[in-house]
Amino acid sequence: DAEWKLADHPKLPKGKPIAVVVLDGWGEANADQYNCIHTAETPTMDSLKKGAPERWRLVKAHGTAVGLPSDDDMGNSEVGHNALGAGRIFAQGAKLVDLALESGKIYDGEGFKYIQESFANGTLHLIGLLSDGGVHSRLDQLQLLLKGVSERGVKRVRVHILTDGRDVLDGSSVGFVETLENDLAKLREKGIDARIASGGGRMHVTMDRYENDWNVVKRGWDAQVLGEAPYKFKSALEAAVGPIVDGDAVVTFNFRADRMVMIAKSLEYENFDKFDRVRFPKIRYAGMLQYDGELKLPSHYLVSPPEIDRTSGEYLVHNGIRTFACSETVKFGHVTFFWNGNRSGYFNQQLEEYVEIPSDSGITFNEKPKMKALEIGEKARDAILSRKFDQIRVNLPNGDMVGHTGDIEATVVACKAADEAVKMILDAIEQVGGIYLVTADHGNAEDMVKRDKSGKPALDKEGKIQVLTSHTLQPVPIAIGGPGLAPGVRFRNDVPTGGLANVAATVMNLHGFVAPGDYETTLIEVVDK
Ligand code: 3PG
Ligand code: CO
Repeated sequence: DAEWKLADHPKLPKGKPIAVVVLDGWGEANADQYNCIHTAETPTMDSLKKGAPERWRLVKAHGTAVGLPSDDDMGNSEVGHNALGAGRIFAQGAKLVDLALESGKIYDGEGFKYIQESFANGTLHLIGLLSDGGVHSRLDQLQLLLKGVSERGVKRVRVHILTDGRDVLDGSSVGFVETLENDLAKLREKGIDARIASGGGRMHVTMDRYENDWNVVKRGWDAQVLGEAPYKFKSALEAAVGPIVDGDAVVTFNFRADRMVMIAKSLEYENFDKFDRVRFPKIRYAGMLQYDGELKLPSHYLVSPPEIDRTSGEYLVHNGIRTFACSETVKFGHVTFFWNGNRSGYFNQQLEEYVEIPSDSGITFNEKPKMKALEIGEKARDAILSRKFDQIRVNLPNGDMVGHTGDIEATVVACKAADEAVKMILDAIEQVGGIYLVTADHGNAEDMVKRDKSGKPALDKEGKIQVLTSHTLQPVPIAIGGPGLAPGVRFRNDVPTGGLANVAATVMNLHGFVAPGDYETTLIEVVDK
């Protein structure tokens, strides 16, 4: 295990329990009526901000700081938790697919050659999220892929679209469908039989995650594979809705993993009991990326995923750190799977315990905005008080999940609930003499309105504001404290551009270790007091 051994920190002790709290969708922004965190009563988070200036700061959570193509890309949970857990910035799926398409390397890979075998006699089905959100997929990548396959022998293409109102403005999908229809019409002029074959809203079909509700994937299966689609678009109405049959090729064109794992299992696994597939066609299936590095799922893919290795979780387990991780279903994989570099399962089950609290299913979270925040808080509290763990890590989903519904009042309730859960955890840390580190993965609830360049709410044609359901470009807070924190510990002021990837080294320090040399630098220093 020598390669995993972390050096002792010269000044910081070991053995303090550390709570690592990630508030999902909790950015820092100007205080106005669209800032739900500002509107909500959040005394705990407020006190961290006001308390000790050298123990509260902002870090970057979007764009190149988390491996996205540009600083116009908002943050998201996948790249955010990857950065938090891995301590380094990896070029992420969005960027890797851009590069592979730009260089044409995507067409030289094993995955493309594999599906290409079906082009002569079968149909190519493309399934994925149709938007320019850049979180799970991007329309321009789909457009390039369509062009690429059209130049490489494809005869029939069926696009199964999932529409988006979560990473992009509600109602914007009409425009994306028009763009796609135009492109498909051009392909038809070239003699390629290319059509939209099925469609549905992303929260209703296919894109469930962490096995919250297999019915979502089943509804997609019925439409895409069995051809029993109740959803049809105007110009696709006369088109025969092409089912997926033996000899076809299928590509799921999302690059992001969490909401593709379930459909990938249903398309790939011979043995499968999550719902009745009715038919299991013999197809050639490839993901845009490989979505799960541990399961090697799917086995064929067009672009290699980022190689997120040597994550902080793996290091710490090798150094004897006993870890507890918890969230509710809809974010459970964020503090486990994403945290560990898109890898499912434990590193060492003797030292780790991952607890999933079942999410409410079948509702949109503005109906129950408190979600399971208090239950997560209780589980974390109990884990802390049990003294069985060195690191207690949670994700509190409220700001993000309710923020995505665009319901401002509910989001205010959500933020208050998350703050209450933070208090429970901090109180427990106080009792055991531990340390806390509270941060977030990206912004959402702090800004609920689309803005113009000057920062004022942008009005639509009717002069109304447009509610922002998506994430933001805002930085997120990070705070440290607790009775176990050595008195001289403070945030350095020579890492002004620090981002989420700097957190892992910071956490390792708090555990009493020096981070590996290639990790992004720590945010803290110890001054003599
Ligand atoms: C989702 O998948 O719910 C959104 O597209 C992104 O949200 P997340 O990055 O916070 O999970
Ligand atoms: Co989100």
